[in-house]
Amino acid sequence: MSSFKGRNIISLRDMTIDDLWTIVTTAGEVKEGKHRGCLQGKTIASLFFEPSTRTRLSFDSAVIKSGGSVFGFADPGSSSQKKGESFSDSIRTITGYCDAMVIRHPVEGAARLASEVATVPVINAGDGANQHPTQTFLDLFTIHEEFGRLKNLKIGIMGDLKYGRTVHSLTHAMALFGAEMVFISPPSLKMPSAILSGLSEKGISFHTADTPEDAADMNLDILYVTRIQKERFGDPQEYKNVAHGYRIDKNTIIALGEQVRIMHPLPRVDEIAEEVDTTPNAIYFTQAHNGIPTRQALLGLVTGGIS
Ligand code: CP
Repeated sequence: MSSFKGRNIISLRDMTIDDLWTIVTTAGEVKEGKHRGCLQGKTIASLFFEPSTRTRLSFDSAVIKSGGSVFGFADPGSSSQKKGESFSDSIRTITGYCDAMVIRHPVEGAARLASEVATVPVINAGDGANQHPTQTFLDLFTIHEEFGRLKNLKIGIMGDLKYGRTVHSLTHAMALFGAEMVFISPPSLKMPSAILSGLSEKGISFHTADTPEDAADMNLDILYVTRIQKERFGDPQEYKNVAHGYRIDKNTIIALGEQVRIMHPLPRVDEIAEEVDTTPNAIYFTQAHNGIPTRQALLGLVTGGIS
């Protein structure tokens, strides 16, 4: 467990199954009331160069609940980036003000670059279309809470698989746990071939489908739905071609079976009908709330407050 102290959290590609278990079990301990005050005396920088509700605010709340202090910005327009300061110079400066930093940035690789110049742990809170590791940690924690296991699960991963950083991270994690996966997307938003060939090289088989109903005979445990992300499309017409193309409703649950649990990293636009929210199948708000113990656990581990 002590291997986390001082560590950067950039990509699921850097993580082992033991690392993921450590985070999930520690988050469970935090939720049970252990590790209180694990960030006492620690100061966390929260640097959001891109909009966020859940990730930023749950990190802030996690720090405050664990007795630490948090500072930063939600709008890079209020920072000296506006005056032309380079990203690297900003990070070199802020590293002297904190014990760990959480960074969201629209550019892939920004968190990795930050970790190369920072002298404190850097946590990637989402870098462009690349990775969103802490979303995956809370997803795994929620799945474990719901099913009591992380192995032997069947999961449909659906939506914007091309630009979706949450599903890129989640796919790496579910592959480590040997999940049976089906990727469901419009043809233009398929999972990147580099990720699919990585699965094949590891001998991990997967399925593809056009609609969740196409996977009905798999008896999925989880349908993980994602938004078509307007902000990631360079060409507005490409977005218009796929926007509003699917909607999960009660009929989808009937087709997939009552066992299926519906997850979503949120925010949603119109891809899950509100009628699903009150079904026992919907666990996406629990998922969002689990961001707190998961991020308390992670921050405690990387700052050494939990060892
Ligand atoms: N799931 C997620 O990353 O949500 P936010 O963009 O609101 O942080």
